[in-house]
Amino acid sequence: MKKINKIIAYAQKQLAQEKTGHDFEHAKRTAFLTEQIIKEDKLQVDDFIVTASAYLHDVIDDKVTVNPEKKIRELQLFLKEIGCSIEKIDAILSIIQNLSFSSEMFTQTKPLSLEGKIVQDADRLEALGAGGILRAAYFSGAHGQAIYDKNKPSLYFRNKKEYRQPTTMINHMYEKLFLLPDLMNTTYGKKEGMRRKKFMQDFLQEFYEEW
Ligand code: ADP
Ligand code: NI
Repeated sequence: MKKINKIIAYAQKQLAQEKTGHDFEHAKRTAFLTEQIIKEDKLQVDDFIVTASAYLHDVIDDKVTVNPEKKIRELQLFLKEIGCSIEKIDAILSIIQNLSFSSEMFTQTKPLSLEGKIVQDADRLEALGAGGILRAAYFSGAHGQAIYDKNKPSLYFRNKKEYRQPTTMINHMYEKLFLLPDLMNTTYGKKEGMRRKKFMQDFLQEFYEEW
């Protein structure tokens, strides 16, 4: 089996129990979106690093595992066992440890490589559009958040503690998701991100009328 297929199988196994919207199908769509970005922006990159990072990016996330440090060590060992070089392992680990919105906002993140920027945009696109609405709903349900509360205005986060407090699913759209298109690294990411955001705004208009 080729290295990349072993990595895909590893991600599938690791994400099999995932129930907050970071499941294997999300990893697969993220990988697909990286291909779109590379094609549309005509980028020259290490495809192996991009694809491996796209599939693995949530395996070590603290939303998916209670012990990220352990998952990082396991992943390093696995990549070594299937014959990845130290350089490739470092490149993948550096991407998946630094790409998340929360780590960008609150912890010292290393600047991402071009490969990392592509995976970051793909992951951000995954939080937008019809799928993004459903993932936010799914996440909210799993964490006991209300869909909407008229008396809870969107609180724009000022620090990590405040940001981590659950708000409502609708607030999450204003607090995080609608900020994503402006943060995109790639031209396709920005364009597609804006299109997906517009769809969500139209959805909200309909939602408020129903409410
Ligand atoms: P990151 O790892 O980049 O910080 P997340 O893991 O927080 O990103 O986001 C992944 C998915 O979970 C997104 O689709 C996002 O909308 C959803 N999500 C994260 N936090 C919340 C929240 N508080 N309410 C609703 N959905 C959320
Ligand atoms: Ni993700």
